[in-house]
Amino acid sequence: MERINQTVTAEEIKRQQFFTEEISRLPQKPESFFVVTYGCQMNAHDSEKLAGMLAEMGIREATRREDADFVIFNTCCIRENAERKALGNITWLREIRKKNPRLIIAVCGCMIQEPGMAEKILKQYRFINLAFGTSNLHKFPELFYRTLNSNCSTVVVEDRDVVPEGLPIIRARKEFAYITVMYGCNNFCSYCIVPFVRGRERSRNPGMILKEAESLLHSGVQEIMLLGQNVNSYGKDLEKPFSFASLLKELDRMEIPRIRFMTSHPKDLSDELIETMAGSTHILPQFHLPVQSGSDAILKKMNRKYTRMQYIDRVRKLREAIPGIGLSTDIIVGFPGETEDDFEATMSLVEQVRFDSAFTFIYSPRVGTAAASMDGRIDPLTASERIQKLILLQEQLQKETMKRFIGQREEILVEGLSRRSDLEVSGKGLHGISVTMPGNEDDIGKIRSCRITGLKNNTLTAEKV
Ligand code: 5AD
Ligand code: SF4
Repeated sequence: MERINQTVTAEEIKRQQFFTEEISRLPQKPESFFVVTYGCQMNAHDSEKLAGMLAEMGIREATRREDADFVIFNTCCIRENAERKALGNITWLREIRKKNPRLIIAVCGCMIQEPGMAEKILKQYRFINLAFGTSNLHKFPELFYRTLNSNCSTVVVEDRDVVPEGLPIIRARKEFAYITVMYGCNNFCSYCIVPFVRGRERSRNPGMILKEAESLLHSGVQEIMLLGQNVNSYGKDLEKPFSFASLLKELDRMEIPRIRFMTSHPKDLSDELIETMAGSTHILPQFHLPVQSGSDAILKKMNRKYTRMQYIDRVRKLREAIPGIGLSTDIIVGFPGETEDDFEATMSLVEQVRFDSAFTFIYSPRVGTAAASMDGRIDPLTASERIQKLILLQEQLQKETMKRFIGQREEILVEGLSRRSDLEVSGKGLHGISVTMPGNEDDIGKIRSCRITGLKNNTLTAEKV
């Protein structure tokens, strides 16, 4: 298990290590754990940290959640359905507890950090043993120790924005690793709850990031993905400002074969970053650039701080500098006040830009955000019709854009056997697109060369070369 060697404060980490050791000696500690993860890559990476902390306590990971006697839900609250799904599953676990009275249930992540949620948990979900917010993740050993020694629920939400360092990590894959470069967001897009639940922007010290990358390189990692809500503002808050482009340049000098990052805000996408990517050896030709809407009026109401034209200009610049770059986006439909014309503007932007993939969402009001109190709610039927139209258009266009890969050589980092056949493997190509090719278990975790032969359900098919 790797460890990043710095702390919020050295004292704090010592304190948590003390609780980790205490738990490892407790007779009533659970034998096995299972982490259920909802939401984004940031959450997936937080779950790897939870797994690391639990392993240090001498608790093993169960393969199925039904078999574990400690289940922890790492939740998301970006849209209402993410929250509903988590709460539904947590309630279902109460039934499992009837069969296994030893079962301990914890809930953490963004949902707990939502205004009013801690109180709700205490009142309506009393069977939950432990709940803590994203800013308390590094204190998990102490909170868990308290839970194991008490019959009451422990609910802890602190507002303190921290940059946790020094947490043990058990990564889900050996060849691929997430590295958080910054926490939080300052943008306050009017629909988004992230700044409320993940706090203000805090960048990790570049030295710590490089150290983490170096240790991953020595352990044989093939690809790293740098994570932040808005990586383009990385380093602006540091005592000695250090740009994201500079960080990428440093990382590119190491021999890590593949480097990706997400997410970027169009307003902060600098020419320096584009030029750095173009001149790099290891940064992959892929970019996730959420547009959210193609209408200037809606972009303004969303507080996105760029216009349709400015977005298109950034894409042009990216494509000029990095020909053939894989481009993906996020789009919201049904934002308050979205007229037919606004929606058509989104459709025409999609048609004009031609994304390789688009994550599409129906606007979901989030308590406390500016948009939640805006007039002009779009009725669910209209929103649903709009998203279906958008998905259909994107699917049609995607078939066309993907054709540019046919006949080309690609390199894929094999993730596993393909779902369709044991004689095929799948993984991500250089441009961030899923590729399936002939292969077997020996290929998993390795970079393999192939030639793209066709397209099946948004996945490229390839032959070995
Ligand atoms: N409703 C719908 N989609 C949202 N997103 C963020 N907040 C909301 C919301 N309230 C989408 C945005 C963002 C992605 C991660 O989730 O498109 O880029
Ligand atoms: Fe949310 Fe906007 Fe920040 Fe992205 S940039 S996390 S959408 S507030």
